[in-house]
Amino acid sequence: MLKDIEKVYYSEDDLHQIVERLGKKISEDYKDKNLLLVSVLKGSVIFMADLMRAITVPCAIDFMCVSSYANKTESSGAVKIVKDLDINLEGWDVLIVEDILDSGRTLSYLKKILDSRNPKSMRICTLLDKPERRVVDDIWADYYGAEVPDEFVVGYGLDYDEKYRNLPFIGVLKREVYEK
Ligand code: IMP
Ligand code: MG
Repeated sequence: MLKDIEKVYYSEDDLHQIVERLGKKISEDYKDKNLLLVSVLKGSVIFMADLMRAITVPCAIDFMCVSSYANKTESSGAVKIVKDLDINLEGWDVLIVEDILDSGRTLSYLKKILDSRNPKSMRICTLLDKPERRVVDDIWADYYGAEVPDEFVVGYGLDYDEKYRNLPFIGVLKREVYEK
C-alpha cells in the first residue's frame, strides 16, 4: 500500500490537530443547539469517528450513503441514495460531515434533499477542500480542515477503487496507480 503513495500531505499528527481545532469550534457554535452529525459514507467514517470525540457538546449521529461516481476518480452529475438516514431531520441542527469537497456535485444534491426535510439549520463540515475543482457555486464548507490542490488523495477514509481507506494519513496516490 505504502509503495503506491507519492507523498504524505497530512500526517496522523497533523490530522489530530486539525480535528481537535474543528471539534472545538463546532462545540462553541453548537453549545445551545440540537446537533445532529450526518456522516456521508464511506469516505467520512474515520473523520466522523474522530470528530465526534473532539466535540464536547451533546450530539446525535446518523449515516447516509450516496454514490456519485461515473468512474474511479471523477464524480458525475448523477447521485443516488444507497442508504438513507434513520432520523427525521425536523428540529435538528444538521451538520453534514464529508471527507472531501471536490466538484461539489455530491453535496449540492445532498443538501437539496436534506433541506426539503425541514431541519432547523444545516451546515457542512468537510475534512478536505479542493477549491480549484469546484463546478457548482451554491456549495461551500462552513467548516473545513485543510485545503488540498488538484491531486487525487487517499487515506484516513478516502479511497481509490475502495482501497487505501485504512492509511492513517492523507497522501497523494502515484499517477501510475490510476493511469495503468
Ligand atoms: P464531488 O461530487 O466531486 O464533490 O465529489 C465528492 C466525493 O468524491 C467525495 O466525497 C469523495 O468520495 C470523492 N473524491 C473527490 N476527490 C477525491 C480524492 O482526491 N480522493 C478520494 N476521493 C475523492
Ligand atoms: Mg465520499
